Amino acid sequence: MEILRTVAELRRWSRSKRNNGGNSIGSLIGLVPTMGALHAGHVSLLRSSRASCGFTALSLFVNPTQFGPLEDFARYPRAFEADCALAEAEGVDALFAPSVEEMYPAGATTFVDVGDLGNRLDGQSRPGHFCGVATVVTKLLIAAEPDRAFFGQKDAAQVAVIRRTALDLRVATEIVVCPTVRDAEGLALSSRNAYLSPAERKQALALSRAVRQVEALAAQGERRSGALIAAAREIFSAEPGVRVDYVAVVDWATLEPVEIAAPGTLFAVAACVGSTRLIDNAILA
Ligand code: PAF
Repeated sequence: MEILRTVAELRRWSRSKRNNGGNSIGSLIGLVPTMGALHAGHVSLLRSSRASCGFTALSLFVNPTQFGPLEDFARYPRAFEADCALAEAEGVDALFAPSVEEMYPAGATTFVDVGDLGNRLDGQSRPGHFCGVATVVTKLLIAAEPDRAFFGQKDAAQVAVIRRTALDLRVATEIVVCPTVRDAEGLALSSRNAYLSPAERKQALALSRAVRQVEALAAQGERRSGALIAAAREIFSAEPGVRVDYVAVVDWATLEPVEIAAPGTLFAVAACVGSTRLIDNAILA
């Protein structure tokens, strides 16, 4: 596995692999963008990339521009050595771990503004978050020139923002979305789960319970968003340690609320457990 620190190195790596791989799956480049502290959710993205691309690059970069001033940028888990070992074991071909100065050259003033989309769901409570995500993902796509880039459905609003960005900027990369990976009790895997105490971890299960309940109701034919949201809120009201940020039924592309859920509609929740903000969702069948 090659460890690359600069955009120029990543671009050189990507171009050399593409040129040497012929024109089959062997020449496809997959990129898995992450902020590190890798877990089984990231592993599933790496495996999807390896299954459909000849070469896989993994980026590890805790992106400062997607954190608000009072958020957890400084304490976000960083585990470079463990991440390298896991990437190596998963057959990653190149690991891109740039510095902040490499990704944001001194005096940088250019950012990707996704318009109103960036102010919905998480964007409403985390102003500027999706601008930071869209900006860094765009930089990574420009640098790596991947055929495919892999993201988890757990961050469903982020997926909507990245799809919109790639479409609007006419980026050639295919955006691939992989299913949420959960622990044995149903908690969606997230690097931030590391912040939870054992008691908070139990409380956090309210998110996946709410998601499962809404999925079950939708499968039984309940389509009214009001009823789905009420059912989820009832679950949260039984768990006082969980402070709900949003419970929403929205169009997955625009993130705008819908009255009646249709196949492909996004049900999404965000809540704080202690000081940890967690999200979960389901795409309704
Ligand atoms: O989902 C993440 O880990 C990050 O938001 C991403 C896509 C790597 C951008 O920093």
